[in-house]
Amino acid sequence: MKIESSLPCPQLPESPPQMGLQFSVATEEDFDEIMAMSQDIYGGLDYLPTRYQAWLQETNRMVILARKQGKVIALESVCVIDDGETVLVEGLRVAPQERGKGVAGVLLRFCAQLVKSKYPDVKATRLTRDDKLGPKDFQKYRLITKQTARFIKYTRRL
Ligand SMILES: CC(C)(COP(=O)(O)OP(=O)(O)OC[C@H]1O[C@@H](n2cnc3c(N)ncnc32)[C@H](O)[C@@H]1OP(=O)(O)O)[C@@H](O)C(=O)NCCC(=O)NCCS
Repeated sequence: MKIESSLPCPQLPESPPQMGLQFSVATEEDFDEIMAMSQDIYGGLDYLPTRYQAWLQETNRMVILARKQGKVIALESVCVIDDGETVLVEGLRVAPQERGKGVAGVLLRFCAQLVKSKYPDVKATRLTRDDKLGPKDFQKYRLITKQTARFIKYTRRL
């Protein structure tokens, strides 16, 4: 296992050695690089650009980056709510060229471990997904609610 980290996390999750990922806490300087790998997200309706600065200031939130050869290739935000009992996973994304290789899974496990070490009272993870879950997923997750959103883009002559 080869994972480097600048985070005070005593136990790092297992990762295939060939992934060579480094994890760090996001800073204001990382903004442009994060936006560059987020071009295709939510059909141009990504909420991260407007929330990023505020997220960095929130005391109960961590924004974690995964880098490969120094380049940002994935992001996940974890926010501890419900008096420290629940962690909310938000903003998850992997650079298009790195998808389908298990990067999101490694980042999710890294962040889960980090949260456990920092907030030992956390008992559940809550997240929103827009893909179809299979039986394997439902061994891990319990459905809270289903909601369908339809986005329609309009344009108007000025
Ligand atoms: C969804 C996305 C992050 C998956 O990245 P990936 O590196 O190709 O995914 P992996 O190959 O690691 O495999 C999927 C793993 O991520 C998990 N996953 C996928 N989408 C997820 C989501 N929205 N929230 C939490 N976990 C998710 C799967 O359960 C699986 O976990 P497992 O390893 O524990 O089984 C990537 O396709 C992406 O960036 N898409 C565009 C942005 C997006 O849709 N983000 C999700 C917001 S709802």
